Amino acid sequence: MKPKVYITRKVPDEIVTKIEDYCQVRMWDQADIPVPRAVLEEEIKNVEGLFCLLTETIDRELLGKAEQLKVISNMAVGYNNIDIEAAKEKGITVTNTPGVLTETTADLTFALLMAASRRLIESSDYLRNGNWKTWSPMQLTGQDIYGATLGIIGMGRIGASLAKRARGFDMDILYYNRSRKYDLEEELNLIYTELDSLLKQSDFICIMTPYTPETKNLIGSRELSLMKNTAILINTARGGIVNEEDLFHALKEGEIWAAGLDVFEQEPVPLEHPLLSLPNVVTLPHIGSASIKTRMKMADLAADNLLLALQNQSPKHVVI
Ligand code: DGY
Repeated sequence: MKPKVYITRKVPDEIVTKIEDYCQVRMWDQADIPVPRAVLEEEIKNVEGLFCLLTETIDRELLGKAEQLKVISNMAVGYNNIDIEAAKEKGITVTNTPGVLTETTADLTFALLMAASRRLIESSDYLRNGNWKTWSPMQLTGQDIYGATLGIIGMGRIGASLAKRARGFDMDILYYNRSRKYDLEEELNLIYTELDSLLKQSDFICIMTPYTPETKNLIGSRELSLMKNTAILINTARGGIVNEEDLFHALKEGEIWAAGLDVFEQEPVPLEHPLLSLPNVVTLPHIGSASIKTRMKMADLAADNLLLALQNQSPKHVVI
């Protein structure tokens, strides 16, 4: 008897076929509409494997309904959508997809940094809205990237890849992390600093840390007030790491200069969110890992993790 699996979103056919070779698969057959909670609550009762996205909240209540579940395979590197403690108590394996999205996410983070500092979106809108009447000395001027100081909060895989890109722009690179990364300091010429000192010295501050109870609201009004008023804050990690209300005030009052945000506390971010009203905020809909190749690799790795766990073998990336 093949094990039963539920896939919470329509994924490419080759991924489904790969899982079907070994499992009985049911799938929420919509790509752009998340599975309703009530459907997930029913489906989870009967399956041994769950293939899910970061949009699904896999909490204690939901896991309470899962009587046969052996593995939750999250198609994401972040797993803050899953109650890890509750899964552990039930002996459920949780897997994720690190590594394959590192370079793509670092690319997007640097793109967002460039877009915010050189006002790319605002400038494009300026032209398209018919405001470009002449060239003028200080028109749409931004902040220099070349030679500036970059502060990276969280020196994991993506943080290190971002630092490599910054080296090409001759940036001075500071980082803050729970533990020192001596090899990277040597290889990439990174300087370790405490958080407050990083916030004070950096021209660009990129958040690259996982979202945990410790990093929730890591950046709030106190931290924003330490930043230069020319500083640019970039977040491609998770929205809840930055207090959005405090960020709005800091940007509006000119305490910092701009922000580039790929992630929000509530996603999709409501269109009436105050941050969306500011011209000095570049916003993106959580597309850090969104290249075709990378998303296929993530789906493939999530499928491998799921199948290995169901075959009682070690998945490639286990959270617990
Ligand atoms: C992740 O994997 O956690 C990203 O946020 C989406 O790729």
